[in-house]
Amino acid sequence: MADIDGLTDILTELDYPMAVVTTASADERSGCLVGFMTQCSVDPPRFVVFLSDKNHTYTTALDADGLGVHFLHHDQRDLARLFGATSGDWSDKFDRCRWREGPLGVPVLEDVRHWVVGEITERVLGGDHVGFVLRPVAARADGPFEQLSFLDVRSLDPGHDP
Ligand SMILES: Cc1cc2nc3c(=O)[nH]c(=O)nc-3n(C[C@H](O)[C@H](O)[C@H](O)COP(=O)(O)O)c2cc1C
Repeated sequence: MADIDGLTDILTELDYPMAVVTTASADERSGCLVGFMTQCSVDPPRFVVFLSDKNHTYTTALDADGLGVHFLHHDQRDLARLFGATSGDWSDKFDRCRWREGPLGVPVLEDVRHWVVGEITERVLGGDHVGFVLRPVAARADGPFEQLSFLDVRSLDPGHDP
């Protein structure tokens, strides 16, 4: 029998960077706040982002060519709240932020200075989240970076149940 009583304590104290993931297919744009994201290969360079199968962003990503991963700065809690505490199922988040169409048709957030757009090369089943493996096709790193972390925003109520 698995003894995992300590797991919740560990997972609520671990810290890691937060990003807004954006995507688009046909006429639809989507995006959500993520923490389940990491580089997963050096050569070739690859990232993986895990999206909840309940999220509007996941549904859009299934038909998309790529994802944009926007690494939030420490002072960008408003963007974290917009993308993490509301759902595209009920409102258009892109009416409330500055964005432009980027590579692969992916919405790029104008106010985030560190981002990567990647082509979706495969999907990996994680459980109730699905990993989207990305081959980077464009990236920007503009100025110093002080990241927004999970512990800064863990009190946000997600727009969807996980
Ligand atoms: C601190 C925090 C971390 C989150 N991490 C993830 C994540 O890694 N993957 C994910 O799919 N959703 C994650 N979410 C949840 C979504 O950002 C949230 O449910 C969002 O409202 C979904 O929007 P959508 O339905 O428009 O896609 C997180 C939310 C918060 C507050």
